[in-house]
Amino acid sequence: MTRRILVTAALPYANGHIHLGHLVEYIQTDIWVRFQKLRGNRCVFVCADDTHGTAIMIRAKQEGRSETALIADMREAHLADFGKFDIEFDHYGSTHSESNRAICHEIWAALRQGGYIAERDVTQLFDPVENTFLADRFVKGTCPKCGATNQYGDNCDKCGATYSPADLIDPVSTLSGAKPEVRTAAHLFVQIEKLNAFLTEYTQSGKHLQDETANYLKGHFLSEPLRDWDVSRPAPYFGFEIPDSPGNYWYVWFDAPIGYIGATADWAAKNGETWEDWWKPSTPGTAVPGLPEIHHFIGKDLTYFHTLFWPAMLHAAGFNLPERVRIHGFLTVDGEKMSKSKGTFVQASTYAKHLDAQYLRYYYASKLGARLDDLDLNLEEFVAKVNSDLVGKVVNLASRTAKFVEATGLSATYPDDGGLFYDIAAAADPIADLYEQGEYNAALREIMAFADRANKYVEENAPWILKKDPQKLAELQDSCTVALNVFRQIVVYLSPILPRLATQTGKLLNCPMTSWDDVRTPLVGTPVSRFEHLMKRVELAQVQAMIEDGKQAAPQSDMNTGTPVAEAPTTGDSAAYLEKEPLTVENCSIDDFVKVDLRVARVLECTAVEASDKLLQMTLSLGGDVKRNVFAGIKNVYKPEDLVGKLVILCANLAPRKMKFGISEGMVLAAGAGGKEIFVLSADTGAHPGMRVH
Ligand code: 2FM
Ligand code: ZN
Repeated sequence: MTRRILVTAALPYANGHIHLGHLVEYIQTDIWVRFQKLRGNRCVFVCADDTHGTAIMIRAKQEGRSETALIADMREAHLADFGKFDIEFDHYGSTHSESNRAICHEIWAALRQGGYIAERDVTQLFDPVENTFLADRFVKGTCPKCGATNQYGDNCDKCGATYSPADLIDPVSTLSGAKPEVRTAAHLFVQIEKLNAFLTEYTQSGKHLQDETANYLKGHFLSEPLRDWDVSRPAPYFGFEIPDSPGNYWYVWFDAPIGYIGATADWAAKNGETWEDWWKPSTPGTAVPGLPEIHHFIGKDLTYFHTLFWPAMLHAAGFNLPERVRIHGFLTVDGEKMSKSKGTFVQASTYAKHLDAQYLRYYYASKLGARLDDLDLNLEEFVAKVNSDLVGKVVNLASRTAKFVEATGLSATYPDDGGLFYDIAAAADPIADLYEQGEYNAALREIMAFADRANKYVEENAPWILKKDPQKLAELQDSCTVALNVFRQIVVYLSPILPRLATQTGKLLNCPMTSWDDVRTPLVGTPVSRFEHLMKRVELAQVQAMIEDGKQAAPQSDMNTGTPVAEAPTTGDSAAYLEKEPLTVENCSIDDFVKVDLRVARVLECTAVEASDKLLQMTLSLGGDVKRNVFAGIKNVYKPEDLVGKLVILCANLAPRKMKFGISEGMVLAAGAGGKEIFVLSADTGAHPGMRVH
């Protein structure tokens, strides 16, 4: 049955540009949406700029323009960035919209009516120069506990103490440098403890959240009384004025998630629907069949807003609850927190100047699972993965075969392929399940295993040899028909991740990809267009140029950078790590092990590195045009000429390593002692270059 699915990604703040950290989420969400659409589900993807709050107000003031002028510019920039990465919303709205204001009023009225709102005085620091109350992060001073200077208003990064800004010694407003005053104002609070029983049931049902999130909420929040949530700010504040509390405005985090509904309302108005059909499905008089499902994608820093406050508000107002809140981890680059000085705090627009967006979509997908683990963008691995998987395994299938059937088209009947097409088609449901669960990395492992089988088929049938024999033209057409059909199946499976490749493949084979079920029926007797380049190899130099550019880029406002980046993890260089680690049974899980891509490779060339006692330099073939340059420390036991033409086992997905004599693009497996350090396979075992070793 067709499902009705509403999907959201977190609304980016309108005071900063989109960067690679944000893109983890937007790419993850866009893949899921495209997948749902391809499966034939009714899926609507909405998002919006998050426009309110002190940070925007201050920035607009500093820039000498209105908040609305600032947010209009930022909207353009955000939309341009999303477009570059093929992130396709059905509607992109703004929290500063009349639709959002109206829904805020409705939810507020329900909270008042339900008796959830309390009022009490709050004492806060006030900047007399800027004429505004100061959020904690706009105050700095000396830690009242350890005496460390230059600490933020809420906690000390030297001793870890938490305190209120009024406790800071010698506080200073970071906005004006003035000494803040202590002032008191009435604030409005949502008493969410009254909804504790509901929230416990909702979060612990096992249906809506990842287990680790449910456990975290239970352990950290729900087992104690929930603190009232302060949802108002006194003027001046850029936001919506609270209708029954003049001079007070809703705190940005009140109207931000309601922006999901506001964006739905704007989308619905354009499409002849109503937002109530999605958010209040039981409203009498609404007529869209099927219960809607709401799926939110967020980073783990937004957990309690989306799993406590937000469901509490929706429940109190009698709205539909999220079916699933899908939470992801943070981005690190080369194992460290993104850093402006190192150039790894890369804005989306900077990336797009240097590199194809499809590379990043693929790389992120290859690292994304359904858990909250952080995702590391390892720049060398990025290059290796794009080149070996996308260019070497996928695109290669078409680039090695399409030209041979440009004149004839595909065979009129589907040839015997030993069950290859059937096996790939049979994986449609299991691969769909993995996408559905957000296990993109596992889905890609399955898909790439098929790409390996397809490459083996091409290698064995060698169309470039058949081409030379006029007696074998039918065989040539058949083998290319198989190769291009399995290429098409693989591209259908990849199309949520690589929509551009899917479009190009549709043009090549004169048949656009419109459904997941396209994998089930082969194309026969159809024309093949002239082959046009599908994807280029990426060079490490391009990545380095991007990083250099990132260092030059003007620093963006630090007030809010959207989805924040992680704390630096503790692991260092992987080689050093291995040397230090003892051999234990726990330090390589089966998941780690399956990541290792072992391939049979043929030694095409082998020379001794003159300036080294140990190293041989080899050029290895992994089948077709795929070659690798590898340095191996086996000079003392092998004569280079003895290895030429032999088959060896290569760890093919090791990140390239810069060595003194060049870049080593993999590692040849070796074992034993004295003259037996490397296992050489004999060709009569049936091994051939590119074959995966299990
Ligand atoms: O953290 C952020 O970037 C917020 N602007 C996300 C808001 S998500 C939603 F609730 F509006
Ligand atoms: Zn301290």
